[in-house]
Amino acid sequence: MSSIFGENVKFSVFGQSHAEAIGVVIDGLPAGESLDMQEIAAFMARRAPGRNPGDTPRREADVPRILSGLVDGVTCGAPLCAVIENTDTRSQDYEKLRHVPRPGHADFPLNEKFHGHQDIRGGGHSSGRLTAPLCFAGAVCVQILGRRGVTIRANITKMGDVEAARQSGDSVGGVIECAAGGLPAGLGSPMFGGAENRLAAALFGIPAVRGVEFGAGFRAASLLGSENNDEYYIEDGQVRTRTNNHGGILGGVTTGMPLVLRVAVKPTPSIAANQKSVDLRTMEEVDLTVGGRHDACIVPRAVPVVEAVTACVLLDLMMEGRL
Ligand SMILES: Cc1cc2nc3c(=O)[nH]c(=O)nc-3n(C[C@H](O)[C@H](O)[C@H](O)COP(=O)(O)O)c2cc1C
Repeated sequence: MSSIFGENVKFSVFGQSHAEAIGVVIDGLPAGESLDMQEIAAFMARRAPGRNPGDTPRREADVPRILSGLVDGVTCGAPLCAVIENTDTRSQDYEKLRHVPRPGHADFPLNEKFHGHQDIRGGGHSSGRLTAPLCFAGAVCVQILGRRGVTIRANITKMGDVEAARQSGDSVGGVIECAAGGLPAGLGSPMFGGAENRLAAALFGIPAVRGVEFGAGFRAASLLGSENNDEYYIEDGQVRTRTNNHGGILGGVTTGMPLVLRVAVKPTPSIAANQKSVDLRTMEEVDLTVGGRHDACIVPRAVPVVEAVTACVLLDLMMEGRL
């Protein structure tokens, strides 16, 4: 079930970059939640290309069409299905990649897994375009969580120089930090069902994500226990910690402190510069220049995607106790 995640709320993402449409089915949402479509559109617009200098020139309206799950704008308990049409496709750009895989992209391993039947057009099911339905789902969850006092915000903490890279046919990556406030203590479970486990599993589903860390993350490995431990105190009758190196999760369970996570995003694999690859028909080394329209830097567009996926997992966790 590689395109489905969630336990209490299940998110099933479907479609390919150049298929007729992409979309998502969300099963298990609480009923009686009114959805503000303008807010959803504004959230999705943050992901759409055309806002940053490194964005792909591909233009899509990205208007979600709701097929089910809403009555008069209110969730009715049936699966919520949203479809987003693909209109600006140029599939011919991808034909040569059928036999000459792009370094850094999913072309070669998917060719091996699906024996050449994978949809190569625009990156198929591995395309960043699939993050549009993720943002729809996330925007829905953000509204439901917001009513329960949970807020989520991500921002860029590190990014390469997009313009310099683009001029030389190259690309850059970066780091996105995401924080969620207002979470109750006690969400998640120890070992394999931990809040960290479930967040990381879903965040790694975002194409180009190469690392996920919580709180002090990898830095914790070089701290002393006395530096890394977050001491407890009482504030307004609540147990709090003075520092937040644990990033809001201990033992797989939320502590009530803000959730803090960071996601490393790699440089866009499709670059204009000439690269070495192989021809899978002749099994010879060849030169490859990748055509098509690509982001020179994915990071700004991935910011709302990280918020969206975090929101989906947090709502799923909160539904364990039925909110
Ligand atoms: C918002 C977004 C846009 C993306 N745009 C592109 C793109 O234009 N060109 C490209 O080669 N990869 C793009 N990617 C990344 C690839 O989809 C991804 O690197 C590829 O599927 C391989 O998966 P992996 O990097 O997770 O291993 C994008 C990813 C995101 C999240």
